[in-house]
Amino acid sequence: MIKELSIDDVKLIEKVENNFPTFFSKNSIFSDFKQNAFTKYFIYMEKSNIIGVVNYYDLYERFEISYIEVLEVYRNKKIGSLLLEYLIKIGNDKKIDNITLEVNKKNVYAIKLYEKYDFKVVAIRKNYYDNEDAYLMERKMM
Ligand SMILES: CC(C)(COP(=O)(O)OP(=O)(O)OC[C@H]1O[C@@H](n2cnc3c(N)ncnc32)[C@H](O)[C@@H]1OP(=O)(O)O)[C@@H](O)C(=O)NCCC(=O)NCCS
Repeated sequence: MIKELSIDDVKLIEKVENNFPTFFSKNSIFSDFKQNAFTKYFIYMEKSNIIGVVNYYDLYERFEISYIEVLEVYRNKKIGSLLLEYLIKIGNDKKIDNITLEVNKKNVYAIKLYEKYDFKVVAIRKNYYDNEDAYLMERKMM
């Protein structure tokens, strides 16, 4: 099941912090909700376990993906694909122009996921992650 988080989902936000501590904390999610009217979080759940999460910004005519992660033991089982398909469907329904994201050039599996859904490299951002380059990728919508 895919569910959109709201600022009132305190227990679920705590679970996101527990399961995905590298990128998310309870405080970062709450302050993001409070400070940024454009932020969106979707989680993929099995029973009460949160297995995947995606955070993006819904910026009028475009979406910008900030981060997507699937629990390590559940990777390569198409959960990342499900989350991305869900987001693309929302974007299609809203008739947005494009979805963009930045990804470390060395993040092979993430790049495979994005390429599977027709994201293309449109620029290289030098030293975007400390000393590592990033690709700016874009998926044009119809
Ligand atoms: C990137 C990430 C979210 C992908 O999630 P996932 O659920 O594993 O992705 P999927 O199972 O849907 O795989 C998508 C495609 O990537 C490729 N892929 C993913 N994992 C792979 C693996 N271990 N071996 C080979 N190919 C792999 C496949 O081409 C796959 O498509 P297919 O199964 O239809 O052939 C996950 O690897 C992750 O959480 N990584 C750590 C966080 C991260 O780097 N996030 C991206 C930040 S920009």
